[in-house]
Amino acid sequence: MTEAPEPLLKVCDLRVWFPIRKGVLNRIAGQVRAVDGVSFTILPGETLGLVGESGCGKTTLGRALMGLEKPAGGRIIFNGQDLGALTGQARRQLRRHSQMIFQDPFSSLNPRMTVQELVTEGLVHHRLLQGRTRTESARELLASVGMDGDCLFRYPHEFSGGQRQRISLARALSLQPHFLVCDEPVSALDVSVQAQVINLLLDLRERHGLAYLFISHDLSVVRLMSHRVAVMYLGKIVECGATSDVMETACHPYTRALLSAVPRPGKHQDKRIILTGDLPSPAAPPPGCPFHPRCPQALPVCAQQAPPVRTLDNGHSWACHITPD
Ligand SMILES: Nc1ncnc2c1ncn2[C@@H]1O[C@H](COP(=O)(O)OP(=O)(O)O)[C@@H](O)[C@H]1O
Ligand SMILES: [Mg+2]
Repeated sequence: MTEAPEPLLKVCDLRVWFPIRKGVLNRIAGQVRAVDGVSFTILPGETLGLVGESGCGKTTLGRALMGLEKPAGGRIIFNGQDLGALTGQARRQLRRHSQMIFQDPFSSLNPRMTVQELVTEGLVHHRLLQGRTRTESARELLASVGMDGDCLFRYPHEFSGGQRQRISLARALSLQPHFLVCDEPVSALDVSVQAQVINLLLDLRERHGLAYLFISHDLSVVRLMSHRVAVMYLGKIVECGATSDVMETACHPYTRALLSAVPRPGKHQDKRIILTGDLPSPAAPPPGCPFHPRCPQALPVCAQQAPPVRTLDNGHSWACHITPD
């Protein structure tokens, strides 16, 4: 019998809350529960897609995995080591192996640095040039993302959105990470450029055995990229499973509503489910199931009790009171 591979990343009951401060005394008047009890795993080389409406906590979750937000609770275990228990050098070493790219590479690339400086900054910082010049390393990194070395001494504003995303990728790859959080990496790009960047991400995953947390509100892009999908609603993962299971046999009413909004060529189109009402504030999440005020199938119990998590043998799980048919 072969043992299941060890996860690269294991997240247990993660919570990230932002305090709301009020008045002249700056007292804490409440908490925005941006991420509220999230658990999942990612295997080496695996891509987990993370979908959900704007404001449901996707970016905050990604930032917490990078150590950019301090969790209010829960654990992040990367390569068998608890991120929260590490400090100093050990933490920096571990952090090196996970990197993040953002929707808008313009705001994440320092406009005063040249491309060469940008892509080799991490190598210099971690003393990893190993006798090579910055120029040599920069050329190699740029080549790996399909850019030629002519642009070494140019600045981010001189490039298109797609090229800037390639520069961010070269920069992220410089430290040979095992894990990359891609936060809406193609959402700001033209459709034709989107396809090029998606292909590059698929190619890099293959070549370097990278694992991704691929965040997007675009379900068709997530379907293309992800081995598994997690659906997030108001700081919680409401459904998770293999991409085909979640996309073909969605069980959570929220996932069904999201999917019904996506046109599927050649497939019978289910009736579009229109969600009424806005996403409630994560500072005052509804009691019971957080989705119940908008759920077309809500039962009285949904407003009172947190939903049970149901899990099938294939690992497909969802949190809902309604017994599946
Ligand atoms: N630094 C912050 N301070 C206070 N609230 C924040 C902060 N960052 C995000 N939030 C809030 O947390 C929630 C989740 O935000 P975010 O993670 O950006 O969602 P998404 O990426 O899914 O759009 C939102 O309600 C947002 O307003
Ligand atoms: Mg976001």
